[in-house]
Formats: sequence, structure tokens, C-alpha cells
Amino acid sequence: MNDFRYQAPTRYIFGRGKEEETGNEVAAIGCKKVMIVYGGQSAVKSGLIDRVKVSLDECEIKYVTLSGIKPNPTDDRVYEGIEVARNESIDGILAVGGGSVIDTAKAIAAGTVYDGDFWDFYAGKAVIRNALPVGVVLTIPAAGSEGSGNSVITKIDGLHKISLRTDFWLRPKFAILNPELTFTLPPFQTASGIADMMAHIMERYFSPTPDVEVTDRICEGILKAIIEEAPKVMANPEDYEARANIMWAGTMAHNGICGCGRVEDWVSHFMEHEISAVYGVTHGAGLATVYPAFLKFMAEHAPSKPAQFARRVFDVDIQDDKSAALEGISHLKDFFRSLGLPLTFAELGVENPDIDLLVKKLHENKGEIIGGYYRLSAADTAVIYSYAL
Ligand code: NZQ
Ligand code: ZN
Repeated sequence: MNDFRYQAPTRYIFGRGKEEETGNEVAAIGCKKVMIVYGGQSAVKSGLIDRVKVSLDECEIKYVTLSGIKPNPTDDRVYEGIEVARNESIDGILAVGGGSVIDTAKAIAAGTVYDGDFWDFYAGKAVIRNALPVGVVLTIPAAGSEGSGNSVITKIDGLHKISLRTDFWLRPKFAILNPELTFTLPPFQTASGIADMMAHIMERYFSPTPDVEVTDRICEGILKAIIEEAPKVMANPEDYEARANIMWAGTMAHNGICGCGRVEDWVSHFMEHEISAVYGVTHGAGLATVYPAFLKFMAEHAPSKPAQFARRVFDVDIQDDKSAALEGISHLKDFFRSLGLPLTFAELGVENPDIDLLVKKLHENKGEIIGGYYRLSAADTAVIYSYAL
């Protein structure tokens, strides 16, 4: 096991109706005027935004709003939010939505108190040393941004989708998790969220670091729970208990606990981010397409961990590592398929992917050789993309 530092300071408020406590939570972190950031429609239609506003009013918290944040969020809305936050003397950001909304809120939080261009953080030209506090009311279990220190934004110029990772500054101060808020999710978004949270665990699980048994078992346990609960939410979107388990799994998958003590991988995410940047697909659905392709490559080149994954998560009973790994991939694909997720570029809605472009952007953004579990060149990542054709 490697040495590690792990801090997960987000306070989670979990359960039915907990969005009514938003005002109290905002007051508790010392904010007096916040920017409510939200998406296109869903949170307005469900009445959630109105309930959040009532809760803020009750606690005499002032607010302005920034709405219409789209999936795969872009830098233009961040610049807009920073300007409003400065003009209105905002002292905190309240994200009501999913990963796209939360990531935009985080970027605004860091950019508002920074003299330069907020993109400097994403381009690796500056390190965050300060940010406004961010609170979250989560509406979709998927990206895990409610507990992570990460923010993923696309720069429209050049379509660079970059994931910024911080230890501390971008971790939300609180996250309100009411599983009932996820009842309205369309099946495709529910399924894509499930693929995304599984990928967050697997990116940490596929590691070259030996002797991380506790962390491995945490990962395997959460993955098994997801596989058990997922069919229930797909069959009955208003199954509170199943929604609750999936929601908590999504948070645990990405708040860092699944990575303690080891090198992490993240190649599949980097590869997917290029697909969603160029083709605008849903992130989790892109991962359902890329992850089995990544594992197929690993079954050929480094099968020991995929074999362990197959044996422990899907109860595969095969001695030979490569054969066990391939059998595990087949179970994973069946599972994704059962949720209605795409497994190929065509099923994802990308008929003729420009693999050369994806590979070029990937290695421009992430380096010549990438990957924590197994080091991959541009020739290797081209093969992995081609496995998803
Ligand atoms: O805009 P509205 O109308 O709200 O619709 C949204 C959106 O179309 C809808 N939705 C959300 N909650 C709903 C709902 N519809 C009905 N009922 C509800 N309760 O779902 C759609 C997708 O929303 P989005 O926020 O994009 O989903 P998600 O949470 O999957 O976030 C995806 C983004 O997060 C990034 C992804 O790359 C992508 O840009 N990620 C962020 C990470 C992080 N910050 O740690 C890690 C992840 O790996 C990921 O890369
Ligand atoms: Zn993800």
C-alpha cells in the first residue's frame, strides 16, 4: 500500500425532503448571498428551485440565479457566472443539479476570487489557493462531483474538455442528497449515471499498486451493491430504497475512499472526455462504450487485475487470468446492455468516429504516455478506441 493523504470534508445531509434544510446549511457555512446555479428544466419543473428559494428566504439568505447550464458544461457560462458573482458580491455558490451544474459552480467559485483567467487552473498554469464555498443539492447520482474535489469544463475554443483535480478547495462544503429528487430521471440518465459511478470505482481499482486489500474490498462491495440495486431502479424509478442505495454509491464511488493507498488509472475517463467533448454524448454512456474496450486491451496485456475483478465482482470461476478477464468483460457488457446502455460508437450515436482526432486530442491534453494501471501510447489508445467500433 502507498502512503496517502485523504480528506473528505463534505457534510452529507441524506434523506427525504432534506432540500428544505438548504437555508440552514448555507447559513452554517457563513454565506449571506449566494448564486444558485442550475440546469435546463428538470429542477424548475419539479418545483425544487422554488423549494430551495423558500428555504433560503426563511434563513434570510439573499440570492441571484444562473440557469440553463447544459450537460458537458462550457467555459462561456463560467465567465458569465464569475462576472455576476463579482458584481453582486456573492459569498457562496449553491449548485442545484448534477455534475454539469456542480462543476460550473466550482469553476465560478475558484474564478471569482482569482485575478487571472479561471482557465489557468484547468490548463495547469496556476494552482487554486482560494475559492468561494460551494454547497450542493444533488438531483442525479452519477458524476460524484457532490463529494469530489474535481471539476470538468470544456473550453469551447478547440473543444478541450479538461478535468481539474484538487485535494481540498473544490470539495463542496455540504451536499444534500434526497433520493426522491431522482425519481424524475429518464431511464437513460439513470443508467448513464450508474455506468459513470461504476467507472469511478474501476478507475481506482485498476491499479498497479499491490497489497491494497481494504481499498479493493471497498470497491468490490460498492460495485456488487450497484449491480444488485440497478435493476430495481430501472424497473421501478420510484423505489426509494433502491434509489437511496444508488445515490449513496455514486457519492462513495468518487469521494476518494476507493482510491486510498494506490496509483489510480483514469485512462477510460480521459478517453471518454474526448468523445463527449467532440460529439457531445452523455458522459456515462460514453464510458459504457469505452470501459469494456479498455478491459479487453488489459485482458491481453495485463490480465491479473481484470481477472480479480471478474472473480470477485462477477463470481467468475476460471483459473486462467486472461480467460477469467474476458468472461468478466462479457458480464460487464451484459450488465450495461441490461440497463439499455450503448456498447459501441454507433449505438452511442457516433456513426463514423474520427479516431485519429480523438487520439491526437487525448495525448495533446494528457501526455504522450498515459494510464496508471498500464502505460499506453497513442498506438495503444487507438486500438482501444477501435475495440469500441
Ligand atoms: O438540465 P436539466 O433539465 O436539469 O437536465 C439534466 C441533464 O439533461 C438531467 N437531470 C438531472 N437531474 C434530473 C434530470 N432530469 C430529470 N430529473 C432529475 N432529477 O440530466 C441531464 C444530465 O445532467 P448532468 O449534470 O450533465 O449529469 P451528470 O451528473 O452525469 O454530469 C455529467 C458531467 O459531469 C462530468 C462529466 O464529464 C459531465 O460533464 N464529470 C464530473 C466529475 C467530477 N466533477 O468529479 C467526474 C465525472 O467523471 C465526470 O467527468
Ligand atoms: Zn465520470
